[in-house]
Amino acid sequence: MTPLVEIRDLYCEMVTFDGVAKVLNGVSLTINKGDLLGVVGETGCGKSVTAMSIPRLVPQPPARYPSGQVLFNGQDVLKISAEEVRDLRARKIGVVFQDPMTGLNPVFTIEEQMVDSILARQNALHATGWGRGWLPSAREERRAARERAVQLLRRVGIPEPEKRIFTYPHEYSGGMRQRVLIALAISGRPELLIADEPTTALDVSVQAQILRLIAELVREINLTVMLITHNIGVVAQLCNRIAVMYAGNVVESGPTREILRNPKHPYTKGLMQAIPADNSVRGSLQGVAGNVPSLLAPPSGCRFHTRCSYVTDRCKAALPPMQIVAPDHEVACVLYEDGVPAS
Ligand SMILES: Nc1ncnc2c1ncn2[C@@H]1O[C@H](COP(=O)(O)OP(=O)(O)OP(=O)(O)O)[C@@H](O)[C@H]1O
Ligand SMILES: [Mg+2]
Repeated sequence: MTPLVEIRDLYCEMVTFDGVAKVLNGVSLTINKGDLLGVVGETGCGKSVTAMSIPRLVPQPPARYPSGQVLFNGQDVLKISAEEVRDLRARKIGVVFQDPMTGLNPVFTIEEQMVDSILARQNALHATGWGRGWLPSAREERRAARERAVQLLRRVGIPEPEKRIFTYPHEYSGGMRQRVLIALAISGRPELLIADEPTTALDVSVQAQILRLIAELVREINLTVMLITHNIGVVAQLCNRIAVMYAGNVVESGPTREILRNPKHPYTKGLMQAIPADNSVRGSLQGVAGNVPSLLAPPSGCRFHTRCSYVTDRCKAALPPMQIVAPDHEVACVLYEDGVPAS
């Protein structure tokens, strides 16, 4: 297993009118090449901030990173230059957001948007020195970009892409728009695709098609995927690994089967009880009593202690470190010190 992303003890704060929100509280997470990692956890627990820190898309301010590292292929993206960030976004990391309308401009055709995006990526490459010495004419460049756009649209399942490419976003259904956005996200041949709740706005049958498409891309074009979802059923069906987040920490991570069969963290156990019996894609996270704490004044130690039935004084005193409980299975809970339940 070769790591593509290694987030190490990452802290992130957001400066707001109400105070400083301690949004990430020492997040540690590894994504190996070829993984389809599912990230789950209740709303506001830091899934998007963690994910968007990788292509450095979290606006600073309001965000600041007091400490920690975000390594992409071994390089800390929090330390690279603006030019390197552009290159990272142009050809290493693709992002798909929840709402397929926000990613597309209603006044331009799909052709205009895709060709412009492909050309912008190429220009980012030229700016970094790649491909210098062979610069085709602008018209040739546009034609080649259009051909590539049509190929991409075909790959993501848009019928008759040679014709459809000249239509506007409103002429596409929600699912088709999401396919176009996936095509755009993979147009720079990225190594990592971040999909932040890519199907939440779609109906159930279309959701399944989009998720199947993402899984196919993982196999066919060597993509590594970080999939954020509220739906554990989706993770169970699609992902090889799971990371569970709670109030700014990854509290448990490991192979999907292992986590589903043998959840260790009291929070993960609560989430698993929320999966419907048929393990369908309709399951959502409702299984844990109580609410996520305010991140402006978060609880001390393990932030889950205010909702945990196993709470002890030690939980309130310090953040428990990640423990390895099985191969590739880690949990941050004092119940499992040295890999075995503490007596
Ligand atoms: N730009 C911002 N300014 C201020 N606070 C922010 C900003 N972006 C995120 N936050 C805060 O950071 C915390 C984590 O947010 P994040 O969006 O990562 O949660 P999430 O797990 O993705 O939730 P959801 O499931 O609702 O998408 C939340 O408390 C949120 O309010
Ligand atoms: Mg989010």
